Amino acid sequence: MNALLLAHTEDLCMFSPASPPAESIRDVSFLVLAIAGAIFLIVEAVLLYCIIRFRRKAKAGNEPPQFYGSKPIEIAWTAAPALIVFVLVLVTTRTLWSVNVDPPEPREGDGALFVTVIGHQWWWEYQYESYNGKKLGFATSNELHVPVDDAQQRRPVYLKLKSADVCHSFWVPRLAGKTDLLPGRTNHTWFRTAEPGVYLGQCAEYCGTQHAKMLIRVIAEPPTDFEKWLANEQQPAVEDAAAQKGKAAFVAQSCINCHTVRFPNSPAKGTFGPDLTHLMSRASLASGILRNTPENLHEWVADPQKHKPGCLMPAFSLNEDDRAQMVSYLSTLR
Ligand code: CUA
Repeated sequence: MNALLLAHTEDLCMFSPASPPAESIRDVSFLVLAIAGAIFLIVEAVLLYCIIRFRRKAKAGNEPPQFYGSKPIEIAWTAAPALIVFVLVLVTTRTLWSVNVDPPEPREGDGALFVTVIGHQWWWEYQYESYNGKKLGFATSNELHVPVDDAQQRRPVYLKLKSADVCHSFWVPRLAGKTDLLPGRTNHTWFRTAEPGVYLGQCAEYCGTQHAKMLIRVIAEPPTDFEKWLANEQQPAVEDAAAQKGKAAFVAQSCINCHTVRFPNSPAKGTFGPDLTHLMSRASLASGILRNTPENLHEWVADPQKHKPGCLMPAFSLNEDDRAQMVSYLSTLR
């Protein structure tokens, strides 16, 4: 069974933040919740008291004596909520300022990772710009690898967010707040974590039929593991002598109009779909909805519409042999 990879809801819980922006957001949420909770309790208590204390008595036929307003009380219940709202505005603004910082310029040895995130219907493109001041320049999709802080250094991650089509929203609750990806506009967000692990997220702005299947996986790793992954991603695609027939089958199909596989003189330079150069280094397919196994890959290539109706990759009705060859080639792209 191809269960969704969202296996652990705790990986999604905004109440267990693992990054400073997510912590600030949690703190504001608790403050608002506490104030709203206190108001709720006070109002309900007064309401219950009045209902019981002033209920119509069995014997009394007449209305109780009526009051027509009290200036001091009216001033008090106008001023108190205004004051509460004012305090909430101040606290929220302070949090917004601490969360929405402009990204700094990358510089040598800063430990910072800069990635441009592009929202597509219905997948995430990650263009790795620079790390620790060194230029990168490769793209991957759906699974964002980032380094964690270590004893030597903090390793913040700065994301530049754009959209290729409609509005999307990048939300990994344990790392940072929602940030929209809007056509014709660039937004920014950042996070930093010291806890290695997988952080899950989700597109948080309705963007079409497969909005719900636009999942995010952030893989936070110790710097040495991250750098190993980075070095592999920067390499061209592996050349497996046993998969040459499959490679020829892949290159002969129209897949190359939408997908990139980097190798010398590669005709596969499409940018409309995910870069497949290191496809097998990802744990999931189709933006997090399927485990990346050869069987699922086979099924996906045979008919993407089965798992993601309406997705922009059509079924190419390849013959069984060509498809098997292609999948065996794709399965070598580690
Ligand atoms: Cu992208 Cu919802």
